Amino acid sequence: MPSQASGSTAPGPERSLATYASVAHVARVYDYLLGGKDNFAVDREAAEQAIRINPDVISTARANRAFGIRTTSYLVSQAGIRQFLDIGTGMPTNNNIHEVAQSIAPESRIVYVDHDPIVLTHARALLTSAPAGATDYLEADLREPGKILAEAAQTLDFSRPVAIMLIAILHLILDRDDPYDLVCQLATPWRRVARW
Ligand SMILES: C[S@@+](CC[C@H](N)C(=O)[O-])C[C@H]1O[C@@H](n2cnc3c(N)ncnc32)[C@H](O)[C@@H]1O
Repeated sequence: MPSQASGSTAPGPERSLATYASVAHVARVYDYLLGGKDNFAVDREAAEQAIRINPDVISTARANRAFGIRTTSYLVSQAGIRQFLDIGTGMPTNNNIHEVAQSIAPESRIVYVDHDPIVLTHARALLTSAPAGATDYLEADLREPGKILAEAAQTLDFSRPVAIMLIAILHLILDRDDPYDLVCQLATPWRRVARW
């Protein structure tokens, strides 16, 4: 997958959505590698370049996705986890986290987070919670952990265990954005709670 400075291509006042869609983005390149249809020509071109350099990138992406499914299944069925904060969700596909978790424990609650507005446009597929549980989607950047925690608290109970899923995203955070500190900040609610 092409190296990308996380957030550096995100739209903002200086970058329209149309311009943004003309630059390859990791969410859509990854979608192409998984065989998805939610990608643009520029993403397919970037993916094909990556495949030429390393043909294993396709099986790596699929193995990564399978890892996320196995991990979710284990956390629900073996570790008793009922809440997930999935940061760097990617395009909805088969076996999204809430589908895997709620197939085992329908009361599971999941908050999805991604900074790519194209992912947001597909987020409806992530908001299909079982009635006993809940799902929510936040458009936010991993580099704003305080904002993520504050907004996720509307759906998740941070006095109870929450699995923070950071699958295939931390390698996109530059050293100058201090990924170690971001992860520490995300763990803050549990440092404040004496015991469950
Ligand atoms: C390689 S995909 C991984 C998707 C999913 N976690 C998986 O493993 O199947 C990385 C995702 O992280 C998102 N992402 C990258 N940098 C981010 C950031 N700083 N904040 C939020 N999301 C980010 C991208 O938009 C993309 O959807």
